[in-house]
Amino acid sequence: MSVVETVREVVRAAQTICKRIVRKGDRKILSLRGQYNNTLSPTLNAQVIQQTGRGDLPMVRIETHWSETEIYLLGACVTHFQRHGEPPLLFLSEKSRFENGSPIRGGIPVIFPWFGKPVDKSGQHGFVRARPWEFVEAKAQPDGIVTALFRLPPCPELPSIAVEYVVAIGETLTVELIVTNKSSSNFAFENCLHTYFTVGDINAVSVVGLKGVDYLDSLDGASRKTEAGDAIRFTGEVDRIYINTPQAAEIRDGALHRGIRVEKENSLSTVVWNPWIAKSRAMADFGDEEYQRMVCVESGNVRDNSVALAPGQSARLKVKLSSTSLK
Ligand code: BG6
Repeated sequence: MSVVETVREVVRAAQTICKRIVRKGDRKILSLRGQYNNTLSPTLNAQVIQQTGRGDLPMVRIETHWSETEIYLLGACVTHFQRHGEPPLLFLSEKSRFENGSPIRGGIPVIFPWFGKPVDKSGQHGFVRARPWEFVEAKAQPDGIVTALFRLPPCPELPSIAVEYVVAIGETLTVELIVTNKSSSNFAFENCLHTYFTVGDINAVSVVGLKGVDYLDSLDGASRKTEAGDAIRFTGEVDRIYINTPQAAEIRDGALHRGIRVEKENSLSTVVWNPWIAKSRAMADFGDEEYQRMVCVESGNVRDNSVALAPGQSARLKVKLSSTSLK
């Protein structure tokens, strides 16, 4: 089949997609179905379900040919992504709060417009992770990937700043935070997609890809150090901001025999965090032993890498998560 015929076939197939909206109790289900008979496009069979989740909070559940995902409107937090036949990729604490005004402990909290707790700010990690966002729409692409768009409602703290979040779900999970400066002056901010990953046993985990990179050690007064090892391993609390890191990082999980690749665009900072024993006990919304089953590898632009956005410009922070078997 020529390229032109292939494209025509894909367009024809896309036109046969049948969208069906069904209401069942408090659930609104959008079914996206279509049959693709060429090698470029597997059979598409996706569902987008709007329903009430934990804490009676609204959430969107998306089921694709390859995977399932849950996204709470609270913080536009992706709390769950799981490929069929694999353990969940994202970690979600069993002790997490599910209340407006509090961030969800796990998944991918969206950190914006600041990271950490600068002295002149009122809370840790910005405020958008604890606010309700709007679900705008979900669309199926001809290749079976479903994209869902979320928007931060206008808020007094950010006049003239538009914030959108696109979640693309298929065999991999891609998230993109888009900040547009609609004001007439520069807008300076930090952003971070604070991703919690599920691991089988933190003692069998290493994070690679950051050798030779400078980091700010948050456990040592943010002093600047250089990563000497081929891999980061965890034998105690780790809380580091690796700066000037556009490159991908990879989590190697020897217990689940899984490699997780974190690829990113427009991100110069990588934060690696595990709270270990004492900090886990100190966090009310985190189980005492849960540090053994999670690691955060966060992608963003913080501290030295913060963003200065000119009027009319957009900043697009994009992260793609994929997994492979290490067996
Ligand atoms: C990490 C920070 O990004 O988030 C840590 O580097 C912090 O210092 C952790 O403890 C969790 O923050 P919070 O506000 O969600 O408890």
